[in-house]
Amino acid sequence: MKLKHIADTLLDEASPPARLQEALNAFVKLCTEISGVVPDRSFDAWAGDSLLKDGVAISPEAAAHCVHDTQRSVVFVRAAFAAIKAAQKRFANGPIDILYAGCGPFATILLPLLGRFNPDELTVHLLDIHQRSLDSVALIVKHCGLQTHRISYLQDDACNYQHPSNPHVVIAETMQKSLEQEPQFAVTANLAPQLQARGIFIPQKVEVALCLAKLDDETAAFRRGDTLDPNALVEAGNRYPLATVLCLTPEDAQRLKQQASQTDNDFLELSPVNVTIPATAHLDDFDAVLFTRIQAFEQHRLLDYEAEITLPLRCNELMPLHTEDRYRISLQIGRYPKFSVTRIRDD
Ligand SMILES: C[S@@+](CC[C@H](N)C(=O)[O-])C[C@H]1O[C@@H](n2cnc3c(N)ncnc32)[C@H](O)[C@@H]1O
Repeated sequence: MKLKHIADTLLDEASPPARLQEALNAFVKLCTEISGVVPDRSFDAWAGDSLLKDGVAISPEAAAHCVHDTQRSVVFVRAAFAAIKAAQKRFANGPIDILYAGCGPFATILLPLLGRFNPDELTVHLLDIHQRSLDSVALIVKHCGLQTHRISYLQDDACNYQHPSNPHVVIAETMQKSLEQEPQFAVTANLAPQLQARGIFIPQKVEVALCLAKLDDETAAFRRGDTLDPNALVEAGNRYPLATVLCLTPEDAQRLKQQASQTDNDFLELSPVNVTIPATAHLDDFDAVLFTRIQAFEQHRLLDYEAEITLPLRCNELMPLHTEDRYRISLQIGRYPKFSVTRIRDD
């Protein structure tokens, strides 16, 4: 399958799931054949991770494996296409300057789209901490005849990188579920303020919500292929939303970082959210769970269970659940970002 056909399939809203998967498999095959980077989610791949100050940059092999998170890849590719088109309307006189941070070895969110634009319509800056990923993308660009596009390759840490101009579009997908492990928060806080006024940051919003949920039942239903509508679960008394523990938007990321405090163990802790476990019938049947919802751009969203990066995360620190127990929850930024949970005691 040629890159053009892959892009057509991914962008076609009528493509059934099997066709989308087939297109992504073809994309991986093409990229692997050219670059020699073989997707690998195993422990061996972790050996190539870079442990940065604000989170883990996963190895080129593990980053390549992300392509197989089908709905994630499809939604982000569609979001990027829609965002570039929107940017062309907003900034009518000149090429659209795109900074793609954490492009990985295949630049998955942008590479399939390049052929849809004339070389003079875009200026593309690909940024990754791993030189091997940048070398890989350069080979694929050349092989696919895309080298007439204006593309620069930048090896740097996206949490500190200063771009010489203000891009119209920034793309950054450096995250796991619940914003754990990878540096999405710090990347957003650094790059979003560098956007051109009215520029577009992808993703536009990442929300992490704490709920009481019957996780085993939900997971079983999900595996059976049942639809899991959060509103229906809440209405049926099978889920209780407790709090939005973080809403990460490009507009607010820098402010949230500035308001954060330093912890004893050298983490930066965002302002905490307090929650109280409600009086709920059959509390023993519930788990405390973090759900991640992502708005990549406008209607291009990933909801609960739709992608690996929006799978629920059981929050064991709140277990066993007791009515009226109070907790303090905050995202901690450091070598391994994660939500920290502490029990609030009255004494
Ligand atoms: C989850 S992978 C995503 C790869 C690709 N964007 C995709 O969507 O398939 C994250 C990528 O971001 C890179 N990365 C993570 N943290 C980074 C940082 N602080 N600076 C630069 N690159 C980073 C990793 O090296 C990896 O290639």
